[in-house]
Amino acid sequence: MEDGENSGTAFERTYNKLVCQEDVDEHHLHSNQEKRQVSMSMVRPEYGLNQYRRLAISLAVLAVLLLAVDIGLGVYYNKLANGQHSLTDINNEVVKLQVSYNNAIRRRDEAKKELTDMISQQQRTKWELQHLLGRVQDYKKQTDKIQNEIAILKSHIPMIKDGCRHCLPGWTFMNSLCYFFASSDTLSRRGWEQARQHCKRFGADLVVIDSREKQLAITDLINNYKDPSRPMSASGFWIGLRDVVDEGIWRWLDGTRLNGGFWNIGEPNDQGNEDCAAVYPRDNPFQGWNDAPCNHGLKWICEMTPRSTPS
Ligand code: BGC
Ligand code: CA
Repeated sequence: MEDGENSGTAFERTYNKLVCQEDVDEHHLHSNQEKRQVSMSMVRPEYGLNQYRRLAISLAVLAVLLLAVDIGLGVYYNKLANGQHSLTDINNEVVKLQVSYNNAIRRRDEAKKELTDMISQQQRTKWELQHLLGRVQDYKKQTDKIQNEIAILKSHIPMIKDGCRHCLPGWTFMNSLCYFFASSDTLSRRGWEQARQHCKRFGADLVVIDSREKQLAITDLINNYKDPSRPMSASGFWIGLRDVVDEGIWRWLDGTRLNGGFWNIGEPNDQGNEDCAAVYPRDNPFQGWNDAPCNHGLKWICEMTPRSTPS
């Protein structure tokens, strides 16, 4: 008990000392009375509890702050992680876009190549078409030639029906008539009258070219005999046409007046008295005739109907 009293007294003394010291430290501006009041209030046991409460509150506040910081850091980390995800997504997207771009470039190059191939194929088709058009022209010419030959062959039919008629050896059967082309070198060129005499020896006469078909057929034949080294003026063949009676009035051997004809451009021009007509080997069969001096030395063409075989 005494110990308790002693200890209580010692406690009070120590406590008062502390209180006085606190008064000096914290409230040196207060009056002594206020010091006493404060000292008395702090002497109360609740004072220690308040201190703990403050400490606890401070700790709680600190904990809350730490929690807030932690949450903040968590949020920040999440954002960073999300950012990282976004970056990864963007990277993936970039890779995908790169792949798409590369594919598009590849497809473009393929399409370009395809287009180039198609253009070259189109060019080839164009050339082939031109070639075929040329071939069509060739076929057309061949068809005309064949039709001409058919017409010639058909013209043989009446002769066959009438019995076996024929042309003399060395003569050409054409359009139902026999022709002699004095193209051989053994027959020298001569004037119109002498040429006619040669024909008459065979019962023939100089050719009368009174149709388009005859002119075409004769031109084809004399073009085959054409000697390119010979001047055109010496390459003609006398025909049975003259204007010797009436100048400018051209007549066939039987007196029939010429109707049209196949004169060369500028012909007949009667250059130095040209009263006899000749056919020349020319590419254009419709411009095949010239008038020439009758004594001019030329080849000639005889014509006669086929003869029956002598029995
Ligand atoms: C003339 C022609 C003529 C021919 C007779 C040529 O030089 O130009 O008009 O018909 O000679 O051979
Ligand atoms: Ca002439």
